[in-house]
Amino acid sequence: MLSDDIALDGTVDTDAGTQMQMTVGKSVDLSENNLSDDETVPSENDKYMIRCENLVKIYKTSDVEVVALQGLDLDVEKGELVGIVGNSGSGKSTLLNMLGGLDKPSAGKLIVDGKNLLKFSDKDYMEYKRNTVGFVWQNNARNLIPYLTAVQNVEMPMLLKGSKKRRERALELLDKVGLSHRVNSKLDQLSGGEQQRVAIAIALANNPKIILADEPTGAVDTKTSEMILNIFKNLNATEGITIVIVTHDLKLANHIDRVVAIRDGRTSSEIIRKRSMAEELGELGDIVNSQDNSDLSEELIVLDRSGRLQIPKDYIKSLGIKGGDKVKVELDEKTGKIEIFKSSI
Ligand SMILES: Nc1ncnc2c1ncn2[C@@H]1O[C@H](COP(=O)(O)OP(=O)(O)OP(=O)(O)O)[C@@H](O)[C@H]1O
Ligand SMILES: [Mg+2]
Repeated sequence: MLSDDIALDGTVDTDAGTQMQMTVGKSVDLSENNLSDDETVPSENDKYMIRCENLVKIYKTSDVEVVALQGLDLDVEKGELVGIVGNSGSGKSTLLNMLGGLDKPSAGKLIVDGKNLLKFSDKDYMEYKRNTVGFVWQNNARNLIPYLTAVQNVEMPMLLKGSKKRRERALELLDKVGLSHRVNSKLDQLSGGEQQRVAIAIALANNPKIILADEPTGAVDTKTSEMILNIFKNLNATEGITIVIVTHDLKLANHIDRVVAIRDGRTSSEIIRKRSMAEELGELGDIVNSQDNSDLSEELIVLDRSGRLQIPKDYIKSLGIKGGDKVKVELDEKTGKIEIFKSSI
């Protein structure tokens, strides 16, 4: 039996490098797999498309500093589709901007497609944005040029890259997102959902390895958002594109197999959904099962590489403790459980 008093800042320090289970009904996945400093990461990391380790982003304005990412860890395998959820201001868009090469991390490690983004020159960033990632924003004014038609919009990134057969490919992509009948429509002639589908076609134009979507369904109804998610799922399944979707929509997150929750600029937990046979059969028939599948999912707390974990806020509340308090931690070696007590000191 091990007993220890620890200070509580909402996280608990433990020894990293092992697998462990928590008594709180949530399991903890801990893998010690430090990233290399090299420009190109060796084959051991080949299975990952994205590796963030201890990622920090500090925004400096004239009078304040905002720590938007406070040591975030996240691995995404090649060909995975991952959802990111979290409260407003938790750092979701900041993370996506780092992954998309739109902004530079302040510290930590960020390896995407085997490349270390912290060592990128401006030219590397430009090539990366052009060839490796495609972005879909919530705000369509950011996705589309209003005075161009749908097909001209999709051709635009190919034009910038100097690709050939642009019209042919743009039409093919619009067909892929179910918009063959709207190729000559301009932005104001398209519904919000249709505009979003054009935005997906634009993001696909240069054959990216990764699609990053920030609240892509924020402004459309439930039926349309399920349709948009289905397009992402199809692209992921048929073309193996790695996809990261930020969403506020928990209903939508229910249809994503891996959902990572961010709290205060750190990964706090992951919801891994176990797929039912009925659902898999349903998807084969292109039907999204909209019933509540919460009984099929398991929430896992993520231990960062320094061994810290974020205790769920409701547990902190029910223990009657707050950040800055000291708590007692005990390990029961027989059951392999760690228990946390309110300390009398
Ligand atoms: N350019 C910036 N300059 C200064 N602070 C910023 C900047 N961008 C974001 N922040 C701050 O960083 C924190 C994280 O912001 P971010 O936009 O990543 O949150 P979010 O999770 O995407 O929120 P939302 O769900 O509202 O979109 C917030 O406190 C925000 O105010
Ligand atoms: Mg955001």
